[in-house]
Amino acid sequence: MADTPASSTRDANLIEESLRFDNPVAALRRTDACPTSISRIEVEASQPTMARHGTSNRDVESFDILRSNATTDAAFGVGSHFCIGAALARQDSLSGFQVMFEGMDDLPLSFTNKGAS
Ligand code: HEM
Repeated sequence: MADTPASSTRDANLIEESLRFDNPVAALRRTDACPTSISRIEVEASQPTMARHGTSNRDVESFDILRSNATTDAAFGVGSHFCIGAALARQDSLSGFQVMFEGMDDLPLSFTNKGAS
């Protein structure tokens, strides 16, 4: 790949964009402990709900590792149950991609349904 922007930032953003583009954890179930409301929908205590994490910041029209808002998804969850393995998963993925892409200098940094750029 070309060396702009800085490789480390670009590679890290590749991980974020991959998670954003195709979130491995599509949905998570919860059982509410007390009555609440979600987007003005009333939820009773003990009622099961499902959060569709995979839809956060969804845009399957374009994959762009230079996307500035690639981290605004919920791939690792949100709040008090945020994934404690997120840093390890990110570093592990980064190491894997770096080995995989060694010597592949002409990969596109982005694509849309219309093609690579
Ligand atoms: C790409 C890889 C990974 C993804 C996408 C991912 C995703 C998630 C998500 C969405 C949650 C939130 C679950 C919830 O809200 O109920 C979570 C929680 C958790 N993750 Fe990960 N995870 C990844 C890797 C890892 C790794 C490598 C570890 C450990 C080495 C790990 C350990 C945990 C633990 C222990 C929790 C529960 C945290 C809590 O409930 O307080 N995860 N993960």
